[in-house]
Amino acid sequence: MTPQDQKKRKTAEAALDYIKGARVIGVGTGSTVNHFIDCLVDYKIDIDGAVSSSEGTTQRLKDAGIPVLDLNDVNEVKVYIDGADEVDPSKRLIKGGGGALTREKIITDACDQFVCIVDESKMVNSLGAFPLPIEVIPMSRSYVARQVMSKFGGQPEWRENFITDNGNQIIDIHNLDISDPVAMEKEINDIPGVITVGLFAIKPADVVLIAYDDETKVM
Ligand code: 5RP
Repeated sequence: MTPQDQKKRKTAEAALDYIKGARVIGVGTGSTVNHFIDCLVDYKIDIDGAVSSSEGTTQRLKDAGIPVLDLNDVNEVKVYIDGADEVDPSKRLIKGGGGALTREKIITDACDQFVCIVDESKMVNSLGAFPLPIEVIPMSRSYVARQVMSKFGGQPEWRENFITDNGNQIIDIHNLDISDPVAMEKEINDIPGVITVGLFAIKPADVVLIAYDDETKVM
């Protein structure tokens, strides 16, 4: 395991403390979450099932023998475990590097507690160095890109040859100055054609577990 993988495994292990007693959990998407799925197996965690944030995670959960539940069929998701691309000191996030932002935001909103698992490389003072993903209806792609540029600046880039699990496209906005993430999230949400913006600021993480070389910190 590389040193970064070791940190991902450490933060994933730390998340096990937060799912104690939960029968249904939400599971995010990405390489850090893959370690968390491995932990569920290694520690023989007893749950009724998991609500999944992507087709990729669904496959991994099934391969691990963990029942995958439809969000429509569960009344409560006690805790949601997911990674992030950037985390600021107020636990606001950029997500969607893996393209699963829409289902991730739905589960973030539906869960009682969102526990974000990251290694130290994801911590920033201010969001925006990581290109901000926006999932869009395909016909609106150029329109949304122009609207975002005129309102906020930045350089939009179409994530070519990528279709989301929901059949949509993604544009990544480079070099944004995100001084007010809540206002930006609201404004981008309001542009017709936008499905989801990868800012998780209106509802940030409840807890962030940050793995360093020698310890895991709780924020
Ligand atoms: C996927 C995401 C992931 O949480 C994010 O990209 C982090 O992934 P990783 O753990 O591989 O760094 O938002 O849409």
